[in-house]
Order: sequence, then C-alpha cells, then structure tokens
Amino acid sequence: MKAYSGGASDPQSAIMTIASAGISLVGFRHISSPLCWLLTMDQNNPGRLLFFKRWVANPFRLGSIVPSGKALARAVAQNIQCEPGEYVIEYGGGTGTITSELVKKVPPEKLIVFELDPDLARHLKKAYPQVTVIQGDVSKVKDLLPPGVAGNVGCIVCGIPMLLLPDAVQLAITEGMFSVLKPGRFFLQFTYSWFSPLPRERLGLTGKRVAFATANVPPASLWRYERLKS
Ligand SMILES: C[S@@+](CC[C@H](N)C(=O)[O-])C[C@H]1O[C@@H](n2cnc3c(N)ncnc32)[C@H](O)[C@@H]1O
Repeated sequence: MKAYSGGASDPQSAIMTIASAGISLVGFRHISSPLCWLLTMDQNNPGRLLFFKRWVANPFRLGSIVPSGKALARAVAQNIQCEPGEYVIEYGGGTGTITSELVKKVPPEKLIVFELDPDLARHLKKAYPQVTVIQGDVSKVKDLLPPGVAGNVGCIVCGIPMLLLPDAVQLAITEGMFSVLKPGRFFLQFTYSWFSPLPRERLGLTGKRVAFATANVPPASLWRYERLKS
C-alpha cells in the first residue's frame, strides 16, 4: 500500500480546506453566505465554489464539502489499469480533480466521465472538451454508454459516496460496473472511511486498500474491488 503526500499549496488554502472538511464531517448544512465565501475563496481552485454550492443543494449526493485534492487524484491515476484501446470510466466527476490526473494517463477519447449534477456536468464538458462527459445516473451505465464501449472498459474509478447509499443501490451500481468492464478487471473506489466502504461479502466482491492519501483533507483511502471468483 502506498502513501501519497502533497496537497494544499499554501497556509490559507490549508486552513480553508481543514475548516471545510470539519464542517463536512459534522454535516452542518445551512451555512451563511459570508462563511460560504470564506471557505471557498481559493484562487488556485476555482471549481471549489461551484462544488460547495452543489453540496449545499444536495449534500448526500456530493458526499463531501470540498473536492478531492491532488494527492488523492495522483494516487487514483497511478492505480488504474488501461491497456491500449481500452476505455476508462470515471463515476462522479464533480469539478474534475480526478479527471485532471486521468487525462495524463488515458487518451481523452478513451475517457468517459459520468456526472449526475447538471451544473457540474456542464463545468466538466467545458473544462475537458475532448473527454466524453455524460450527464446521467451511473446506475444506468450500460444504457447511457456510446456504442462499442461496454465490454471494452479496462477500469472504472468511482468517486460516488457509496457508503451513504442503501444496499440495493450499491448492488445495482456494482453489478452495472461488471456488466461493462472487461472480464477479470477491477474498479477503484476512494473513501474517507477507515474501513471498506462497501460490504464485500454481500456484494460478492473481493477488495483491498491500495493507497492512502494522507495529504488529502480529510485523508482518503483508495480501494480496489474485483468480483469474487466462484
Ligand atoms: C464525492 S463527489 C466526488 C467528485 C470528484 N470526483 C472529486 O473527487 O472531487 C461525488 C460526485 O458524484 C456525483 N454523483 C453522485 N451520485 C451519482 C450518480 N448516481 N451518477 C452520477 N454521478 C453521481 C456527485 O454529483 C458528485 O459530483
């Protein structure tokens, strides 16, 4: 298991990020607008304000008050598997922190990003015009993918807060993943949880933590899951 460092580049952004994460952890939803500006005023990360606004609108779907940091994004990109000609799919692109590292390893025409939130999907389309951004629900992945992609997917990166979802939805999403992945391949899931964010046995999965991004705020783990061989 690798540990990744890096992250907040200056003291102001570190303080803002820690304060934001603290509020996220206690689930404080109704924040006044001046505080909102304080928490999101970071010249180096213009997507953070948009992310925060969408979190206020839908905290459970977003799952975090701040987007992932660079250290986690790098850990994710270093752990993907993608052979020439294969696609990589990102679930829940948000403002594109993870996408920004994936495009360094995957040809843009082979990267597909799902984002349910219309404002965030619009932001991603503008920021990554060469990447296929699908505004839609990942539980309908097979129906929404362009022709020729299902079955030719090397790896899926999942940023959706799966821990907050009911068992039946977790099952539908993971089954959907294996219906489009190449046989024998895995998906990556990042989480703030100290434990597996998915009930492996109930979902028929085998999984292990492959990285821990200490510099992410809050620190995040990266898990790799495969289908349990029967
Ligand atoms: C924790 S945020 C992660 C965003 C980004 N990947 C990052 O790491 O900063 C989860 C994202 O998943 C999106 N999302 C949640 N449920 C979804 C679903 N069923 N289908 C597609 N996107 C979804 C949310 O709108 C949000 O942008």
